[in-house]
Amino acid sequence: MNLTPCVPMSAYGVTGNNAGMMSPAFADENHPLLALVPKHNAQFLFRTELRMPVMNFLTASGGDSLALVGPTGAGKTSVVEQIAARMRYPLRKVNAHSRMEMPELIGQMSLQCDPVTGDQQTVFAHGPLALAMKEGSIFLLDEADFLDPAVMAGLNAVLEGGALVLAENRGEVIVPHPNFRFIITCNTRGQGDETGLYTGTLSQNLASWDRYRMLEVSYLTKEEELAVLQATLPQVDATILSTMIDVANGVRQQFIGNPDQALQAGQSGLTVTFSTRTLLRWARIATTYSTAASRQANFPFACPLAQALRESLTNRTDKPMRLVIHTIAKDKFGAAWANDPVVAPGV
Ligand SMILES: Nc1ncnc2c1ncn2[C@@H]1O[C@H](COP(=O)(O)OP(=O)(O)OP(=O)(O)O)[C@@H](O)[C@H]1O
Ligand SMILES: [Mg+2]
Repeated sequence: MNLTPCVPMSAYGVTGNNAGMMSPAFADENHPLLALVPKHNAQFLFRTELRMPVMNFLTASGGDSLALVGPTGAGKTSVVEQIAARMRYPLRKVNAHSRMEMPELIGQMSLQCDPVTGDQQTVFAHGPLALAMKEGSIFLLDEADFLDPAVMAGLNAVLEGGALVLAENRGEVIVPHPNFRFIITCNTRGQGDETGLYTGTLSQNLASWDRYRMLEVSYLTKEEELAVLQATLPQVDATILSTMIDVANGVRQQFIGNPDQALQAGQSGLTVTFSTRTLLRWARIATTYSTAASRQANFPFACPLAQALRESLTNRTDKPMRLVIHTIAKDKFGAAWANDPVVAPGV
């Protein structure tokens, strides 16, 4: 399977003169690894400054690996998945965790039962990394900063393009397929967590980081986020969506993990924040409740927007923090934010 220029740039939202230009993808719409290609999200908004380096890496990795670093829900995992979806690039995604060991990635002996005879035998089951190397997929290791640094270091040979030797499988040697790509996403920069928010992340060793191209992923701008919300919920009034984004940005500004936070004197900062994921959830629930409230006389929630905000974000926080976030919402929405029991208890 080779990448050939066969997908118009319009598939990435490019308009104007360049929309018809062809970008590289696997041309075969029925290739054998199609089941591993991520699902296409038509509403996904590509930022050129992020799309270009990721595509550049996928088409010509030059033996590097790729790391995407940024706050939760900024779009690290989904940008890789959505580019892969358009390139028809097969992808295997694994969530890292602190107790993850090499066998979980490369494979281990396991018991298998013969469906006909019922006999049990031990056979080697390849792990997702070994499979991706063999078949030529993207291996996406999500939340890689949770990984034990020793395991990360153990991956260095693979990151350098070396073969994988599976001693347990009678010394099988897996030479990486030319289409194999190794990508990680993380919330920290591999230096451990500076904010105390990403519990469980570990500091990775510098030699490991030297093998990566690194990309920073920030939250979408207001205009970009509005475009995503409008594409996802076209029936909702744009001013409501725009105010919701203002609320999200107000919360992000007071989030202690945000390097550009703008805390006033006396404010202690928030330990939760609005990801694009949470914002979309809030907008979806709010739409359902507002529609229901307009139709039912005895709808149980006095302020549908506030109830939706609780379910999507503020039920995770303690009471003082909930009050801060709901007050931000009340300030932004004004009269439309009436009867919220969080801001005015007893209503
Ligand atoms: N550019 C975008 N266009 C449309 N939706 C987006 C975009 N970026 C993020 N989203 C939405 O936000 C959700 C979260 O994105 P994603 O899972 O990629 O974040 P992440 O950075 O990997 O977060 P985490 O660190 O929590 O894993 C996606 O499912 C998608 O719905
Ligand atoms: Mg992710």
